[in-house]
Amino acid sequence: MPDVLPKLVILISGSGSNLQAFIDACADGELRASVAAVISNRPGVFGLERAAQAGIQTCVIDHKGFDSREQFDRELMHQIDQFSPDLVILAGFMRILTPEFVRHFHGKLLNIHPSLLPNYPGLNTHARAIEAGDSHAGATVHFVTEELDGGPPVLQASVTIDSDETAESLAAKVLQKEHIIYPLAARWFVEGRLLLEGNTVKFDDKTLPSNGINLAEVQD
Ligand code: GRF
Repeated sequence: MPDVLPKLVILISGSGSNLQAFIDACADGELRASVAAVISNRPGVFGLERAAQAGIQTCVIDHKGFDSREQFDRELMHQIDQFSPDLVILAGFMRILTPEFVRHFHGKLLNIHPSLLPNYPGLNTHARAIEAGDSHAGATVHFVTEELDGGPPVLQASVTIDSDETAESLAAKVLQKEHIIYPLAARWFVEGRLLLEGNTVKFDDKTLPSNGINLAEVQD
């Protein structure tokens, strides 16, 4: 193991179950990285407790204390930069980011979205997939670009939508997959296997298809 592990900064707004997946993956050696800090834009959320319990430094930057999105994002950028992260992870961070922020972290900013992008960017993804009569739903890890939920996908995982599916049951099924694919994509990144070039993703020097890799392709 290298002396200095790659550093992650993880941004949250809520429960932090994806954050927990990163904490666990780092603890059991599956992801050779360290979580340098967890930053929340909402005070009092459970994710902050998860971080504190794992001995990770936390920071709250309440967006309500800022006059503009630009001011908030500049402070956020400044705080993140204090930790010199190799990778910034958006884990249920419920903020639209300014172009300046996205450009600043270009190529080292990942997000997870609870749909099979490019389907259903935005909110209420599970209800929309059920409503549309889709047979499958899922989650996507993608690099963040200036287009909301529009950055190039890295890794997706699918689940079937059952006939009696509700938005809640589907969300729970998808979340389980999120906890697998997000630390895995981060692992590829810190291993140097994943690269954003312009608007395309290279994995092991090969250009990925527009919807990334499906977990089923890389699982035994
Ligand atoms: C996840 O469904 C993620 O895809 C979405 O927000 C949710 C966050 O859940 N962006 P948690 O806070 O990680 O439990």
